[in-house]
Amino acid sequence: MSRIEKALEKAAQLRNTTTTVVEQITNYPENSNYSSQTVSRTLDIKPSSRLLTTIIDPHSPVSEQYRKLKTHLVKLTQKDGFQNILMVTSTVSREGKSITALNLAISLAQEFDHTVLLVDADLRRPSIHQYLEFEPEIGLSDCLLDGIDIGEAIVRTGIGKLSVIPAGKEVPNPLELFSSKKMQDLVKEMKHRYHDRYVIFDTPPLLPFAETRSLGHLVDGIVFVVKEGEASQADIREAIDAVKGCRILGVVLNESSDSVDDNRYGEYSYYMNYAKDKAAASS
Ligand SMILES: Nc1ncnc2c1ncn2[C@@H]1O[C@H](COP(=O)(O)OP(=O)(O)O)[C@@H](O)[C@H]1O
Ligand SMILES: [Mg+2]
Repeated sequence: MSRIEKALEKAAQLRNTTTTVVEQITNYPENSNYSSQTVSRTLDIKPSSRLLTTIIDPHSPVSEQYRKLKTHLVKLTQKDGFQNILMVTSTVSREGKSITALNLAISLAQEFDHTVLLVDADLRRPSIHQYLEFEPEIGLSDCLLDGIDIGEAIVRTGIGKLSVIPAGKEVPNPLELFSSKKMQDLVKEMKHRYHDRYVIFDTPPLLPFAETRSLGHLVDGIVFVVKEGEASQADIREAIDAVKGCRILGVVLNESSDSVDDNRYGEYSYYMNYAKDKAAASS
């Protein structure tokens, strides 16, 4: 059994565990104190990165894989009430978290009648604004630190009904910020205020940075990205253990050498292989 297969098996075993924090989130009081009069930014973003395949090449096999991922997630998150707060993470950096979060959010926004809100929660290496090619202004850290209303940080992208919240200003200690009560309150507020839409957090990797673990306990479900050949088996195991008790919804096998049609792992994994797409396109 390869190390990726072992990681997937482990993730599958953990998949049915649910955190009790979800209970607390759904009990958020009806009369919260936020203002409904907020001004969000509206842009008309036309990104050019080929990595945003769901926009650039929506009919490619990789785009099809993202749509499959979306369909499974929708099924998994609408069983017992709407579990709308999701997070995308991985073991180490550069495994494709941000690309997965973006393409997943775009697939959802293209199809759904509701807005999808993508939050750049990687305060150490924010990249959502870079992939989407816009200049960020107010962001997540500004809301947390300066009490700015989250509605003011929202950027409407003009890509379907996709809205994003950029990371915001640099902070010296993201771990402290993410484990604060402010962060808990903010996620609860999002859960309550945006109850009819998906909110997807793009996060730092699990192993090097502890803030992602805290966030894992605040969200309803986790999409776990594994880039083939990047993290060791022991590290993948440690990363999955770090979010024990949280609900892992599925594993995305990114930049895999397997065929995109290979269905060995059933609904737990999705193959994102741009190189294969490219080869298929030029043959
Ligand atoms: N499926 C893929 N195919 C080809 N290259 C990819 C793919 N996913 C990620 N990459 C490459 O890896 C880089 C890092 O991806 P990113 O999503 O920013 O990683 P992370 O958020 O995990 O740090 C991308 O800029 C791109 O060059
Ligand atoms: Mg990233």
